[in-house]
This record gives sequence, structure tokens and C-alpha cells, in this order.
Amino acid sequence: MCGIIGAISKADVLPILLDGLKRLEYRGYDSSGLAIIQEKGSLSRLRAPGKLIELERTIDASEGIHGRTGIAHTRWATHGPPTENNAHPHVSGERIALVCNGIVENHEELRNWLVDEGMDFHSETDTEVIVNLIRLHMDRGSDFMSAVRESIGALKGAYALGIVNADEPGRIIGARRGSPLIVGVGKDETYLASDISALIAHTRDFIVLENGDIVDIDQNRVTITDLDGRPQDRDMRTSTLSPRSTELGNHRHYMEKEIHEQGQAASDTLEGRITARRVLEACFGTEAKRIFDKTRAIQILACGTSYHAGLVARYWLEDLGIPCQVEIASEFLSRKHAVPRDCLVVALSQSGETIDTLSSVAYAKECGYAHSLAICNAPDSSLVRDSELVLMTHAGPEIGVASTKAFVTQLVALRLFAIVMGRRAGLDMAEESKLVRELRELPARIESALELESAIQAIAEQFANKQHALFLGRGIHYPIALEGALKLKEISYVHAEAYPAGELKHGPLALVDSEMPVVSVAPNDMQLGKLKGNIEEVRARGGKLIVFADSDTRLSSRENLQVINVASVESSIAPIIFTIPLQLLAYHVALIKGTDIDKPRNLAKSVTVE
Ligand code: F6R
Repeated sequence: MCGIIGAISKADVLPILLDGLKRLEYRGYDSSGLAIIQEKGSLSRLRAPGKLIELERTIDASEGIHGRTGIAHTRWATHGPPTENNAHPHVSGERIALVCNGIVENHEELRNWLVDEGMDFHSETDTEVIVNLIRLHMDRGSDFMSAVRESIGALKGAYALGIVNADEPGRIIGARRGSPLIVGVGKDETYLASDISALIAHTRDFIVLENGDIVDIDQNRVTITDLDGRPQDRDMRTSTLSPRSTELGNHRHYMEKEIHEQGQAASDTLEGRITARRVLEACFGTEAKRIFDKTRAIQILACGTSYHAGLVARYWLEDLGIPCQVEIASEFLSRKHAVPRDCLVVALSQSGETIDTLSSVAYAKECGYAHSLAICNAPDSSLVRDSELVLMTHAGPEIGVASTKAFVTQLVALRLFAIVMGRRAGLDMAEESKLVRELRELPARIESALELESAIQAIAEQFANKQHALFLGRGIHYPIALEGALKLKEISYVHAEAYPAGELKHGPLALVDSEMPVVSVAPNDMQLGKLKGNIEEVRARGGKLIVFADSDTRLSSRENLQVINVASVESSIAPIIFTIPLQLLAYHVALIKGTDIDKPRNLAKSVTVE
């Protein structure tokens, strides 16, 4: 979603803003822009639809835009298409410029009122009402800060804002409600950004703003207050991110890099959480034992890929005797709940800023769910700060919009969770020790699965002219089929649907003909016999099957059936291993199709609006 960066420096801020925008690209955007207070005290703004290169071209073609105070933005269109006019910053009266991440829910009402008051609008965005509100209040005598407060007081919705006033160079005001915003503190430089990755070339020291905070920054000072002007105390944090951790290295795409980092990411997520025989429960937090002891049921909430991880966890938890429900966060929000007693809400989110997931956790609390656990990859995120218990996944920064290593580490974290909950339902020491041993082998097993890449590359060629694909899985591998289909559609734009294989003849079999590739995962488990039957149903109708099969299944290639053997693994980790070939397939199909793999069209990395 939209990315914000702002900077005040004793030197020119243009390079800082451009570098920050590049580092925010991963969030997803379709236009960008910046506004800088020039030395002579005038406000200059440049914007461009499309990728950042277009903004850079616009800058090169301009008379130059330099100064010591500026704000910049990558916009992911919500209200109005990604045109230059709709790109941020929005300006009012040539003096006030504003960038926003979020949605102003009452923008129509405010716009009508502002038009009646004589204000002009030049875009279709909801954001422009904010900058016009600020100017109106200033025209009526309010100072800059008071005008911001008065304007924010009138807004409904979620937002993060960065605002400059050409009459006050050296000052940026920021505000946060709902959407993430941080302040970076450097040497004689202060910054505002959506996340620390935007600033990592300049500082690691930052302050996370809380909902309701208004921040006033200059080159050496940060003042945080609430809407009524009361001072707010926020801790300074130091990021462990290194500028190199977000570099591409020798890889063609971040997605490729991140797929290949999964062995290490799994190992990092296990590190310090297991002994030779046990999962260390303390890794969930000091309150974990008390809360887990009284937990009788689990409600998992998540979106997209994280939801698929939740679906896998349901099989693991219920297999160990723990009742578990999994729901897409936005759907959970859309209905009333009959709340089970002593039910722990588990929120899964790579970014920890997905608004639907955050809102669903808040709603669960309102409904009376007992406690919450966050499984998250972003330590300073809203989700982590708002949850009672936290288990961090240690995937490292994930830049590719399509989630890969974050998904695998969520599964690792959920495996740890299933084991500690399983103890309460009778999992004994010997069984736990076996499961932990299998987990220890996971990083090496992931590395072996990655060796399938050249075989998968060859298979991907068959998708060069395909528009549709079906994915099949049974039992715990049905969510893995869902994830494989999601990866393929996200990055290659091939329409891919996943079905539980048993559902095939209840409808989707009608789609199968010699043009339809059907991808299946076939681990050597109790479902194998039935899955083989489903494979034959597809073959009999001329469908082209691609089956990733455990080498112990003895499935072999024949007409209309290509089998790629995946080294045999224990069933406890099989879903993680079978994810890898499906990620590689999606990646290589997208490579052949020539799509923008790391930044697929219309998608954002962190979905901070509903
Ligand atoms: C797909 C993908 C998305 C996210 C979803 C939730 O590859 O990445 O489906 O999984 O937007 O995001 P988080 O996990 O950050 O809450």
C-alpha cells in the first residue's frame, strides 16, 4: 500500500526521498510524487503515474527540485485512478503539501462542505480534502499545528499523514490513526516514514507512533502530542535491519532470493525455540503458560497467504486434539459470533499492519474472545504491539509482494505452537521429541526441495500459453494447493483455482480438457489412494497432470501425467516441503510470461486499508 517518506536535513533531501521511495516500492504502488520546500521558500512538487523511473524522468526534465525539507509518496490507488493529478503530494494554496496513507471515510461530506466554502479540488482522491481543510483553517487564522489538529478532528477513517508548509521550512507535521508511521532520528536529520526499511540507509534509530499521535519534527527535535496537545512519551527503538538485508544480491528478483532463503529462514525461526527434545514454551511470552493452560479452543484470523498457513495449522492442531477454527479476517468482521469458552485468538500476519487482521483481532476482543497471540514477521508492527502473546517469525525482510519465506516461517511457528498446545491434549515426551527432531531436519529438507528448480523450470514452459490452471490437494495439502494457485495467479496472472481433489467431480471436472494443466501435490499419506483415483479421473478426460509426488508413492510419469519426485519427508513437515515446488513453479511461469514478479499489478505488500 501507499508509502510515505519525509526528511529534514541540513543538506538537500532529494536523494533521501528518492532512496526512501525505492525502498518502499515493495509495498506496492502505481504512482509517486514528492514536494520539497525550495531554498527560496517556495513549494515545488513533481508527480508521475507508473513506476518510480517515471518520477525520476520527470525530475530530470524539470528545472530542478532541491531543498532541505520534503515529503514523498508512493500511491496505491483507491479513490481515483493512478494519474498524475491523483498522485500525492496534494497541495493547497501553493503553500501546504500533504501525503497520506489510508482512507478518509467521510471525504464526500467534507468535500461538499469545502466546495461550499470556496475551496478548489484538482483530484478525485479522498486525501485532497485534508490538505484543503488545513488551508481553510489557516486562512481563518489558525497556526499550522492548530490547523492540522482541527482538520484531523474532523476526519473519519484510518490514515498516516506527512505535511509541510512552505512558510515554515525545516518543519514536518505527521499524524497517525490506523495506518503505520514512524519517525527516524539521524544525526542532524529527522525523518518520517511508513516503515524503517525506507530509512535504513540513513538511520536505525526510530520511534513508532501510536494511534492518535501527532508529531512535530525539525532537524534535531521530535515532539509528540495527542489531538488535544498533551505530550506523549514514546520509546526510541533501534532496528536490527541492515541496509544489505534488503539488497537483491545476485538474484533476478526478490521473490527468487526469498524462495532460496527459506532454509535459513526456517532455521532462524527455530533458533532458540527448541532444545534437542522440546519446544521452549517461554518463546511465546511470560504469560504463555497461564494462557495456554486454560485455552480450550483456537480461532485463527488472517488474510491471503497467511490465511493458508492458518488452514494448515488447523489440521495440525486438531490432529493433536485441539479444536480450531480458521477464518479470513474480513469475513470474521462481517458477522456476529457465538464465542466458544476459553478460546485463544491467533492472528497471523507477515506485516502486522494488515488492517482487516488488526480490526478482526480488535473485534474478537469486543466479542469476548479470551486472549490473543500474534504470529508476525514485523517486530514493531501494530499487531505485535496490540497482542498479549507474540511469536515472531524470523524470515527477515520480505520484499517480493508475493509472500514465500514469510509463509514458510509462519508454518514453522505454527508447528511450534501446535506442539505446545498438543502437550495439553496428551502429546507425550517421546512424541514431542520425535516431532522436534523432524523440525530440526526441516532446513536441510527445504534445501533439497530447492534442488528441484531445474526440473520445474522445464515444466513451467508448458504454461507459456496457458490462461487457466487447476490445483488439487487433499487433507492438509489442500491449503498448500490453495497457496500454489494463489502464487501462480498473483505473479503470472494465470487464472488458477485450487480444489480439494475430492470435490473435482462435484463441478470443476467440467473444466478439464487437453488444454487444462492440473497441478497436484501427492505426499505419501493416508489420502494417497484417493488422490490417485482423482488423478485418473483427470487423465481419463485428457487433462495434463503435473504431480509433485513423494518419492515413496511410486507414482511414475506416463501419458498426460508428469511426476516430479520430491524426496520423502515425515508427514509433520510435508506441507512445508510441498510448498517449495509450487512457489518455484509460479516463479518460473511468471519469468516466462515476463510479468513484474516482485511488484505484480494491482497488488500491495502491506494492505493497510479495508
Ligand atoms: C500473497 C500475500 C498476501 C498476504 C496478505 C496478508 O502472496 O502476500 O495474500 O498474505 O495480504 O498479509 P499479512 O500476512 O502481512 O497480513
